[in-house]
Amino acid sequence: MPARSTSPALSALIATRLSRRAMIRGLLATSALAAFPGAALAAGGDPSTLRFAQPPHVIGPDQGVSPGHVAQVLIRWGDPIEPGLAPFDPHIPDAAGQEKRFGYNNDFLAFLPLPVGSQTSDHGLLCANFEYTNPELMFPGLTIKTKLETMTRAQVDAEIAAHGHGIVEIRRDGEAWRVVEASPFNRRLSALSTAIRLSGPAAGHPRLRTAADPEGRTVVGTLNNCSGGVTPWGTVLIAEENFDTYFSGDPKKTAEAANYARLGLKGKSRYAWARFHDRFDVEKEPNEPNRFGWVVEIDPYDPTFVPVKRTALGRFKHEAATVVVTPDRKVVVYTGDDEAFEYLYRFVAARRFDPSRRQANFDLLDEGTLSVARFDDAGGLVWLPLVFGQGPLTPANGFHTQADVVIEARRAADLVGATPMDRPEDVEASPTTGKVYMVLTNNTKRPADKLNHANPRADNRHGHILELVPPGSGQPGHARHDAERFSWSVLLLAGEDKDGARYHPQTREYGQWLSCPDNITFDRQGRLWIATDQGSSQGRNGIPDGLYACDLEGPGRGLVKFFYAVPQDAEMCGPCFTPDGTTLFAAVQHPGEDSTFDAPTTRWPDFRDDMPPRPAVVAIRRQDGKPIG
Ligand code: FEO
Ligand code: CA
Ligand code: CA
Ligand code: CA
Repeated sequence: MPARSTSPALSALIATRLSRRAMIRGLLATSALAAFPGAALAAGGDPSTLRFAQPPHVIGPDQGVSPGHVAQVLIRWGDPIEPGLAPFDPHIPDAAGQEKRFGYNNDFLAFLPLPVGSQTSDHGLLCANFEYTNPELMFPGLTIKTKLETMTRAQVDAEIAAHGHGIVEIRRDGEAWRVVEASPFNRRLSALSTAIRLSGPAAGHPRLRTAADPEGRTVVGTLNNCSGGVTPWGTVLIAEENFDTYFSGDPKKTAEAANYARLGLKGKSRYAWARFHDRFDVEKEPNEPNRFGWVVEIDPYDPTFVPVKRTALGRFKHEAATVVVTPDRKVVVYTGDDEAFEYLYRFVAARRFDPSRRQANFDLLDEGTLSVARFDDAGGLVWLPLVFGQGPLTPANGFHTQADVVIEARRAADLVGATPMDRPEDVEASPTTGKVYMVLTNNTKRPADKLNHANPRADNRHGHILELVPPGSGQPGHARHDAERFSWSVLLLAGEDKDGARYHPQTREYGQWLSCPDNITFDRQGRLWIATDQGSSQGRNGIPDGLYACDLEGPGRGLVKFFYAVPQDAEMCGPCFTPDGTTLFAAVQHPGEDSTFDAPTTRWPDFRDDMPPRPAVVAIRRQDGKPIG
C-alpha cells in the first residue's frame, strides 16, 4: 500500500464516524477529552512531524517495516549468550542449556549504554524480560488441549528456565548489531534457579514464609515479567504480571483464600509445573503466591548482583514500573495493574536521588508512599495514599501492618475508592514535557452503565490512551510527579470509526488506525511510539500488531502513523531507542500463538522446516543511519 493511501475499510466508515463524533460531543462539552488544537491550522497538508513512509497495514507470516528501514533479527529464543554451546535444538528440552540461552517470549527491553553513565549508542547491554511460555510451540508433539497432562519433567524444567530475564552485551559494527557471546556481563535470571532477595515492608513477613524459605526473605525466580523500567541510577526494574496463572491446587483450602481470589487464582494453572514442583501447588505450599506479583530491581552492570523484589511498590499484576525524578530529586514510580477494572498506582520514595553516588540510590525504593489514582469526570486526578493506619487500612479491615497493605494492594485500593480502569498497561512520562501517558489496552467487560470520562466506552475492544498532566509539566525536568493532584485528558480512543474512535481528524488521510495499545516509548523529540497487542482479536480486526507513532504536541498531535508490523499471531513489546535515536529495538513476542510446533501459522524468523517460530528482538535502523522518525 502506498504511504498515503486511504484504507478502504475506513473510507466506508466516514459517515458513521461523523455520527459517532456527534455522539461523543456530549462528553466533550463537559469532560476532559482533549481537543486537537492544531488540526484546523494544518488543513491542506500532512501536519505530522513524522515523515517515514508506512508499510502495508496487513497481517502476514513475515515482519514488515517502513520503506527505507532495515529490521535486523538480533537475538532469538535459544540463541547462546555464552560461548561454546552446541547449536540450539528445540527437539531436545534442556533446562541447564536454556539457562545459558536467550529466553522465551521477550517483552520489556532496555538498552543500557556501556560504559555505565555514558550515552553511547553503538555499544551497551540489552536487557530483556522473558514473560511466559507457549510449550506447544516450543516442543514437538504437544497440543494446546492435552499439554498439561502430557508434558515431561524435562520439558517443564526447560520451560521454567526460559522464564525470567536476560542481560546481553551488544555492539554495532557499521549497520549491523551483534551479540558479544563471551561478555562477562551476559547473564540469565530464570524462574528455575535464580535467588532473589525480598526487601521492603513485606520482607520476612509470616505470609511470605515457606518450607524452602522459613525466613520469608529469599525467593527462587521471578515470573511473568511483562514490562519494566530503567532507574536514573542505571538499574532495571522488571514487573511481575500474571503470576496467578502458574499455581495449581484449591486456593480456598488456604488461609489466603480471599487474597488469592482477588488476584484470580482459580485452582487451575495454565502450566504443568505443579506436577513436578510442589511449590506451584497452593495446597502444598500455601504462601508461595504471596512471593510473586512484585517489582524486581536488577543491576545489569554487576553480574554478581542479587536481584531484589521491592515490596514497597505493592503486589498486583504489574505491567511496568516507570521511574521519574521531580525537580527536587524525589524519585517517583508509576505502575499499572493490567486487568479489567484495576488501578493505576504511584510510589514516591522517602529519600532523594543522589546523582553523584550511584550505589547510594540502591535501596531508595524500599521506603516511601504507595498511592492509587482516582479520576474525576471534570479532568482531575487525586492520588490516594495506601498507608497502614490511614482511612480504612486498619485492623478492622484485616490490615495489621504495611506488609498487609502491600500484599493485598488491590483490596486496599478498593477500600480507598480508586477508579477501576480499562486494563492499565504501560504508563510513561515524556522526556520533553513531563506529561504522563497512560495506556488502557481494552476492556470488553465494561457495561454501558459503568462509564466515566476516563473510561468512556462500553465494551471497549480497542482501548485508549490518557494524558496525565502533573503540575509544572511543559518543559523537561519541571513536572511535579509527586503532587497530590494532576489533571488529565484523553489523547486518543483506538479502533475504527464504527467503534467511536478518536484520533487527529486527518488520520484517515495521512495515518492509520490501531487497536489495543500496550507498551509505549518516546523518541528524542518526545514523540510517542505505541506497541499494540490485539491478542486473539487480531484476525477479527484484520490488522497486524506492531509499532505506530504520533506527535503529542503541535498540529500533528494524535495523527497516528504505522511503522512496523510483527508477523502473524505475535504481539509487539518493549520498544526502546538508543540515546541517539538511530536504532529502535523491539521485541516480537509469541509469533504463531494459538498454533503448535508441528503446525505453526508462521515460522518467523528462521523459516526452516525443522524450527518453530521463535520470539526474537529486532534492531530497526534507517538505511541512511539517521535518527528514526
Ligand atoms: Fe504482559 Fe499487560 O501485558
Ligand atoms: Ca504488555
Ligand atoms: Ca497486552
Ligand atoms: Ca504479552
